[in-house]
Amino acid sequence: MKKIGLIYSFNTTKTTQAARHILEAFDKDDIEAVNAEDITEEKFTGFSNLILGVPTWFDGELPNYWDEFLPAMEELDLKGKKIAVFGAGDQKGYPENFVDAIGIIAELTEEKGAEIVGFTSTKGYAFEQSRAQRGDKFCGLALDFENQSSKNKERIAKWCEQLKKEFI
Ligand SMILES: Cc1cc2nc3c(=O)[nH]c(=O)nc-3n(C[C@H](O)[C@H](O)[C@H](O)COP(=O)(O)O)c2cc1C
Repeated sequence: MKKIGLIYSFNTTKTTQAARHILEAFDKDDIEAVNAEDITEEKFTGFSNLILGVPTWFDGELPNYWDEFLPAMEELDLKGKKIAVFGAGDQKGYPENFVDAIGIIAELTEEKGAEIVGFTSTKGYAFEQSRAQRGDKFCGLALDFENQSSKNKERIAKWCEQLKKEFI
């Protein structure tokens, strides 16, 4: 497996907590954490395997630091890259936009040629609508610290085992 770039904002609380569990699940040499707030095109495209941490803010939108990288992302060629997305959301507070940001980033990177891996079942969640939903799956890992925090650790561990099989 080629080295994984784990990209998330180091200034978040919940996303950082999830990222720590992800780091623990892989061998130290197989994964490198990069602050999404300092990400460059060179750094991003330097990885063949990427895990992106993307919480949903502003009623179904990306946080500012991801938004700011979008113009650069539009110019990237991501053919041959495998990308897995995890994101924090609140299914009770925002049932019509639950973890939308996972879907937004997945759509964008797919348009640039990346393959999205790490799909998970929507079973066990209760929401009305999500841009991350494709059939009975999310196109990534949905984490809900507000309502289902006790499930996070197990969900993350299972997802990381899945990624070890799906990454190149
Ligand atoms: C103003 C505001 C807007 C939010 N909008 C959404 C939303 O549209 N969809 C969603 O699933 N969660 C939404 N959330 C919940 C956050 O995504 C959730 O609290 C998440 O855990 C934050 O992660 P972070 O601390 O890593 O940034 C919102 C939270 C706030 C405070």
